[in-house]
Amino acid sequence: MKAIYFVTNNTGKVKEAKALCEEHDIKIQQIRYEYPELQSDDLETIAKYGAEFSARALNKTVIVEDAGLFIPALGGFPGPYSAYVFKTIGNEGILGLMSDKKNREAYFESAVGYCEPGGGAITFTGIANGKIAHEIRGEHGFGYDPIFLYDDKTFGELSIEEKNKVSHRCKALKKFVKWISAKDI
Ligand code: IMP
Repeated sequence: MKAIYFVTNNTGKVKEAKALCEEHDIKIQQIRYEYPELQSDDLETIAKYGAEFSARALNKTVIVEDAGLFIPALGGFPGPYSAYVFKTIGNEGILGLMSDKKNREAYFESAVGYCEPGGGAITFTGIANGKIAHEIRGEHGFGYDPIFLYDDKTFGELSIEEKNKVSHRCKALKKFVKWISAKDI
């Protein structure tokens, strides 16, 4: 079984990655380490920098993942600022900003960065399209899941297995798993 370190403080992300990767014989081990987050509008650039920084600092083969919620009616906000916006105004704040908006389309984007110590990072991306709900719904998941409608349910109403069939993160991770499975490490 291949073992990869997932550098993140977010246990929700780790649960999702484990559920997916272990099906494919890849063991995911969490490392809590705060790498500096690059300021950029591009998630792939942020993930690439984080993976290279962490692989070098920890001297381990790592993945990092950066995700964001993009809402076209708000000009793409919160996008790369999703973590800060979640901490400050949260789901209630986003619902408030959306209260007069007819276009409720939104998407999550994920960028996974993989890096070996001393090497350059490779990135994999995924997108999940949905809508912003009119209210907070569901007890599962984390972050914006309870306001992100996918068909008639929010991500917060889906089990990990259900979310992993359609989420941005699982799409990016599936590309990574396919690539790493073919690589001899
Ligand atoms: P980061 O990738 O950890 O920087 O995440 C940015 C923000 O988006 C954080 O507030 C996360 O909670 C939120 N977020 C990231 N991925 C998801 C997801 O799959 N569902 C809901 N919120 C997410």
